[in-house]
Amino acid sequence: MLQKIFMLSFILFTFTSTSVLAGDPEKGKKAFKKCAACHNVAEGAKHKSGPNLWGIYGAKAGVQDGYKYSDWLKGAGIVWNDEALAAWVSKKKAKAEYFGKDVKKSKMIFAGLRKPEQITNVIAYIKTLK
Ligand code: HEC
Repeated sequence: MLQKIFMLSFILFTFTSTSVLAGDPEKGKKAFKKCAACHNVAEGAKHKSGPNLWGIYGAKAGVQDGYKYSDWLKGAGIVWNDEALAAWVSKKKAKAEYFGKDVKKSKMIFAGLRKPEQITNVIAYIKTLK
């Protein structure tokens, strides 16, 4: 009996934590308004002050054609997976913990999303841009 309860709570826990991790792309699209001032997302759309983010998930950082990146981002060796994206749109402290303090040499001036679910939702939205 105890074992069954244990199994059940394990399954529930895994289920809920993965669904939180997966995020909600519809909500993410709304939260992305904070990013849209600087980023287009349509295929082939122009770069704004930041690069177009079409197809960015899974891509290497700093390689979109026709955008002038900071030297830091070009040389950082980042691949835009969940972890890297989450750190990138987080508050300064979390950002520096993940990328190192030189991340301040990047050109993206953004205060960071406050709520963890906003971050996972935005990432879920970014995954749809392909
Ligand atoms: C004030 C303008 C601005 C805002 C707001 C902004 N960005 Fe950026 N973003 C930039 C700039 C500028 C760069 C280029 C950074 C560099 O070259 O160092 C960039 C780079 C990026 C990159 C790397 C692209 C690549 O080709 O490697 C990602 C991913 C990104 N931003 C995501 C976001 C997301 C998601 C948000 C919202 C949560 C956001 N940005 C908000 C200006 C902005």
